[in-house]
Amino acid sequence: MFEGFANVWTPVALAADLRADRSLAVQVAGTPLVLLRDRDGKPSALLDRCPHRGVALSLGRVKDGCLECAFHGWQIEASGQVCHVPWNPDAKLSALRGVAFPARELAGPDLGLHRADQPAQRTRRTWFPRRHGRALRPCTGG
Ligand code: FES
Repeated sequence: MFEGFANVWTPVALAADLRADRSLAVQVAGTPLVLLRDRDGKPSALLDRCPHRGVALSLGRVKDGCLECAFHGWQIEASGQVCHVPWNPDAKLSALRGVAFPARELAGPDLGLHRADQPAQRTRRTWFPRRHGRALRPCTGG
């Protein structure tokens, strides 16, 4: 995942396209991601794969800043932590996580993301020319 991808903040979408009540599927370097806003309105990015059975989380819905998987209804917080497993009160929630990536709104209209294995090296908006403002294409599911 993200092999050869530069460890810098990378524009992935326009902030205005990410609403509080709906997730946004994108691809970064061939990796499917789902963007959402948490309860405080901050952007976050998760691997678009449910930690249960791998269904695309972007098929689900946003509920109180969490993504609810369309298949069995697991709810995943913007941090990746699973916070609800329906019909299983004994589920060990602390052991269940999706894959989250650092994301933030850059100093402009863009949402940025960088690899999770190292801290971002560059954060200034001026390093991202406007023509790269929409560096990602929508996920087509194919
Ligand atoms: S595949 Fe997502 S809850 Fe089962």
